[in-house]
Formats: sequence, C-alpha cells, structure tokens
Amino acid sequence: MEFALSEEHLMIQSAARDFANNELLQGVIERDETQTFPYAQIKKMGELGFMGMMVDPQYGGSGMDAISYVLAMEEISKIDASASVCMSVNNSLVCWGIETYGTEEQKEKYLTRLATGEIIGAFCLSEPEAGSDATSQKTTALDRGDHYELNGTKNWITNGNSASVYIVIAQTDVDKKHRGINALIVEKGQEGFVIGPKENKLGIRGSDTHSLIFNDVKVPKSNRIGEDGFGFKFAMKTLSGGRIGIAAQALGIASGAYELALKYSKERKAFGTEICNHQAIAFKLADMATQIEAARFLCLKAAWDKDQGNNYDLSSAMAKLYASQVAMETTVEAVQIFGGNGFVKDYHVERLMRDAKITQIYEGTSEIQRIVISRAVINQ
Ligand code: CAA
Repeated sequence: MEFALSEEHLMIQSAARDFANNELLQGVIERDETQTFPYAQIKKMGELGFMGMMVDPQYGGSGMDAISYVLAMEEISKIDASASVCMSVNNSLVCWGIETYGTEEQKEKYLTRLATGEIIGAFCLSEPEAGSDATSQKTTALDRGDHYELNGTKNWITNGNSASVYIVIAQTDVDKKHRGINALIVEKGQEGFVIGPKENKLGIRGSDTHSLIFNDVKVPKSNRIGEDGFGFKFAMKTLSGGRIGIAAQALGIASGAYELALKYSKERKAFGTEICNHQAIAFKLADMATQIEAARFLCLKAAWDKDQGNNYDLSSAMAKLYASQVAMETTVEAVQIFGGNGFVKDYHVERLMRDAKITQIYEGTSEIQRIVISRAVINQ
C-alpha cells in the first residue's frame, strides 16, 4: 500500500493551492457578503483545467484521475467553497454524466464547452417535495413524439443562473415510478424556461442557488441522456461521484479552518504564552488534525475506488458523511480558538463555519448517506 502522493499529484495540488491563494482569496469576504458569483475566477479555473478535470482531452478535459480531483477540490475549498461547489457540480454531476452516458452528439455539443469552463452546467433533481425522496419527482417530461414537454419546478439548484446547460430529471411515465424517469439536457433561454429567484443563503453565498420553472419547455428527444427510463439510475450513479467532490469540499473547509486556527494559536498570546501552549487549545488542534487526516483518507479511498473501476457508492457515501461532520465540528472549534476574532468576518473562520453546514445537506443529507451505507453493509 502506497500512502505517498505521486510527483504529478503533488504538482496538481500545488497548482490548485497557488490558484486559490493568488486568485480566490482576494475578495472572498466581499463576494460572500454581497452574494456575488465568481465569474472571472471560474473562467480562469476553466483555463487551468479545473472545470473538466477528469474529462478525456478529446472533449477538452484535463484527463486526470479522481485523486487529482480530490486534491484540487480540497485546496480550492480551503479558500472559497462557493467557487468549489461550482467546480464540483460541473465536474462530477454534469461533465461526468454526459461523458459517461451521453451520445457522441451531446458530447460534441455540450461536453467540449463544459469541460473547458467556457460554459457552466447545473444538475436539477431536487424539488419542493422531492429532495431526499428523489423518486417522488413531480416535474413531468411528457412524450410528444419527437420531443418531451417539460413542466414543473426545481429547487435549490447550484449554478442556477450562471449555468448555460442544465441536466433536468423528470417523470415521463408515472405508472413506471422511478423506472419512468428521464434525464434531459435543457439549454438556458429555451422558451418557457424561467430562472426563479436567487436564494439568500447561510453559507456558500458566492454561489448562485435558484429555483427553476419549466412551462411547456420543448426538449428534443436527442437531448435525453441514456435509454428511456434511465433517468433515476443516471441520477443515483452521478450523485455517487458527486459525493466524492462534496466530501473533498468538506475536507477543504475543515483543513482551511484548521490551518488558520493553528497559525493563529501560534501567534496569539494569553496568560503569558502563545495560546497553542495551553492544553485547552493544543488538544483541540490534536483532535482537529486527527479527524481531518481520517476524512482525507476516506476521500482518497473513494477517489481511488473510482479510478480503479470499483463500485464507489459505499466509499463515497462514507467519505461525504464523515468529512461533512468533520467540517462542521472543526470549523466550530476554529471559531472557538479565534475567540472574539473568530466571530468577525475578517478572519475567515466564521464564513468557513457557515459554509460547512451545506456539506451535510446537499448531494444527499447525512441521513441519506447513512441509508446508503447501512443498506450496503447489511447486504454485504
Ligand atoms: N447506482 C445505480 N442504481 C441505483 C443506485 C446507484 N447508486 N442507487 C439506487 N439505484 C437504483 C436501485 O437499484 C433501484 O432500481 P431498480 O428498482 O430498478 O432495481 C432504484 O434506483 C431505486 O432505488 P431505491 O429503492 O434504493 O430508492 P429509494 O427511494 O429507497 O431511495 C436514496 C434511494 C438513496 C434515498 C435516493 O433517493 C437518494 O440518493 N436520495 C438523495 C438524493 C440527493 O442526493 N439529492 C441531492 C440533490 S443534487 C444536489 O444537491 C446537487 C447540488 O446542487 C450541489
């Protein structure tokens, strides 16, 4: 068993770290405050190959493995989790979904531009009454011969307005339940497609989260991904990979907060010494470092499973469950170590604490991960 990263992996990690520090750090507090999407930064991420990391170079991607993706996600999330969620959705849910199950025509038309970051993608599964219970889709895509007629509302859609291409999950045949669901590629600007209001969020405030409304939107049959009725399995398989990205995001939020708290504890003095010399702080740092290392191993294991062609439903759910819990606990402790300074915006840790919460909610809540994990271990 090899624990050391390869030269190539170290280079990718270092490139992502440099990019985050040089391009994302500046203005991150203001973007959070004003809920401003980082368009310019995402464009540069595309130019550097971060928006289609695992996509075949034939389609404009970087052709890297999932381990590289985890390393880059961690570094970018340390500084700006709003930029990293955009990156995660584009890479894991949209690019991967189209590359793995799309037609050659769909890849040429959409993937080539998504993988370079020329355009951004969104993944639309959640509905007002179908968040965790994803089989209960109310959005319909009725078969009208050469096209589907799409009607319904999607909620909490990441990249809701910034995207140009949307993968929409919808019910075609109610009688077939989840086997009657399809995944359709919808373009921004199509008649009847309305971008709803932007959500005013607790965290990841620089990312744009919207509801989307579809009123009789005509989607050509050629925009369906996979066979008729494959949409639910498509969503489940895609989300398994998405959970690796969000686990790595949670890891980055945790390690970002930890690194800030560690540095601060070596500078800040109280009772005649740097606060890291007090066991009350030192033991917190010990726990944080240990939990983060464990979360990192789970993330890398899930990525390794994906790279090896193993089933990664279980390892990705474990990574997301644990890393998101560590993100929440670590950021709360980081704020505590900063004391009063932790409660004001200039020191970043309060933002990381707010950003951490969503990692326990999106791409399947912690409870959903426990459903996936418990079913797998019981049936093993
Ligand atoms: N791979 C392939 N197929 C799968 C699968 C997987 N990982 N998981 C389930 N399926 C298949 C099953 O085999 C079954 O198919 P058959 O009946 O044909 O055999 C079908 O899907 C239904 O499976 P279940 O009976 O297990 O379905 P369930 O209703 O019990 O629910 C669930 C399963 C795991 C709870 C699922 O509903 C789920 O994952 N919910 C959470 C959804 C989610 O993550 N939403 C997040 C929205 S996206 C997002 O947040 C993006 C963003 O913006 C950041």
